[in-house]
Amino acid sequence: MPSSAPAPHALTDRLALVSWYRRNRERSRRLFDMIDPAAYYTRPIALRNPIVFYEGHLPAFSVIALLKRGLGAPGVDERMEKLFERGIDPDSIDAAVPRSGADTAWPSRDAVLDYGARADAAIVDALATAAFDLDGATHRAMRQGEAIFTALEHEAMHQETLLYMWHRLPFAQKLPPEPPRYELGPAPTPSRVAVAAGTATLGAARGSIPFGWDNEYGEQRDAVGAFEIDVHSVTNAAFLEFVEAGGYANRDLWSPGGWEWIGADQVAHPAFWLRDQGRWFWRGLFEPLPLPESWPVYVSYEEAAAFARWQGRRLPTEAEYHRAAFGTPSGAERAFPWGDDLPDATRGNFDFASWDPVPAGARPSGASAWGVHDLVGNGWEWTTSVFGPLPGFQPMTSYPEYSADFFDGQHYVMKGASPATARELVRRSFRNWFRPNYPYVYAKFRTVTAG
Ligand SMILES: [Fe+2]
Repeated sequence: MPSSAPAPHALTDRLALVSWYRRNRERSRRLFDMIDPAAYYTRPIALRNPIVFYEGHLPAFSVIALLKRGLGAPGVDERMEKLFERGIDPDSIDAAVPRSGADTAWPSRDAVLDYGARADAAIVDALATAAFDLDGATHRAMRQGEAIFTALEHEAMHQETLLYMWHRLPFAQKLPPEPPRYELGPAPTPSRVAVAAGTATLGAARGSIPFGWDNEYGEQRDAVGAFEIDVHSVTNAAFLEFVEAGGYANRDLWSPGGWEWIGADQVAHPAFWLRDQGRWFWRGLFEPLPLPESWPVYVSYEEAAAFARWQGRRLPTEAEYHRAAFGTPSGAERAFPWGDDLPDATRGNFDFASWDPVPAGARPSGASAWGVHDLVGNGWEWTTSVFGPLPGFQPMTSYPEYSADFFDGQHYVMKGASPATARELVRRSFRNWFRPNYPYVYAKFRTVTAG
C-alpha cells in the first residue's frame, strides 16, 4: 500500500493540505473495503468499538476538530457527529460492565459512507478556501493550524489502530487488495554496541516544529549515562529460545502484574504467533506463514521485559532510546537516526510500505550514528518510561483529552514507527503509549545494560 508523502506542509499550501486529506481518506476507504461486510458490526478486539464506528468516527472527528472547533463553523450532521464522536478507551472500561454503545443501533454502511462523503466535501472546501485564524484570536483551536493537523494526523493514526484490529479478525473475513508479498531472509547475528554518555533531547520547543501533539511539547534535556544496546531488534528466532526455555513458566522473570496477566489470560507465546501441529507460525494480516526467524518479534511490554530479564538485561528508557536513535559521538543530535534527510522507504519499514515486518537490519541506510538499526520503522520500540507530560504541558484546544487522560502511571512510552505508521508521523518528538499488557500492537524491542 505505498503512498507518496509530500514535503512538509506549509499552511499556505492549500492544495497540499487537500491532497493530504484526500490521500488519508482513500487509504481509510481501502482499509474498510478489505473487510467482509459480515464483520462490519463485529468487535475484533472485545473492548473496542465495532468496525462500523470507526468508519463514521474518522470523518466525524475531522468535522468536530476542524470545522467546529477550528473554524467555528456548523457541523455536517449533528446526529452522526454525536454518534461517532469519541472512541472508548479500551483500558478504562471494566470488562464486566456493559460497554457504551453496546446497544447502539448503528447505521447501514451506505449511510456511513454517505455521511463520509458529505463530511469530505465540507472539509475539502474548508481546507481549500476558509480563512484560517492562525493567531487563534477568535478560535484558539486554530492557532498555528493546530485543528488542521489534528484532523489530518488523527486519521493517519487511526489507520494503524484499525490494522491492529483487522489483524485479530479471522483470515476469512479479510481480502487483501493485492497478493501479499513477504520479505524474508536469515536472522542477523545478534550484536551490541556501546553508546557513550551524553545528552538526549526529548520533546520539542513550541514553534520548532510545524505541529506536535500536546505530549510532544516541552523540550527536556536528559543526561544519559553510557550504555550498551542491541544493534538489532529482538527477532522471532531469539524470542523462540526464550519460549522454549520455559520463559512463560518462570515466575522470576515476570513483574507481579505481568505474571498475573499471563496467568489470567493464559498467555504462553506472543499474540502474533500461532501454533499448529507442533509448529510455529506468524499470524500475518491475511494468512499464517511459517515463523519468519529474522522478523522482529511483536510483543507486549511485559513480554519484552521478561525476555530482557532472562538475558540479565533491561529495556531502554525513553532518553536512552533518544540517545541511541538521534545522538551522535560528537554530541550533536539529529532529526532522524540517519540524519536530517526526510523519511523515505530506504530508511525504514513505515508508511504502509508493507503489511508485515521485514527482516531486522534490512534497511541499513536507516541506521543511527552508533550503527543501531530499525529504531524508526518495522515496529514501535518499547521503553521503560511511564507516559507523562514534558515540562510546560498544556492540553491542546482542538483535542484536550488526547494525552491527559493517559497520564495515569499505567502506560509506557513507545517510540519510532511501525509498518502501519504514516510518514507524516515520523518525527523525533512523536510519542506513542500503551498499557504493558496490551499484546496487539506492532511493537518490538531491544535490550540494554549500563555501560
Ligand atoms: Fe479517534
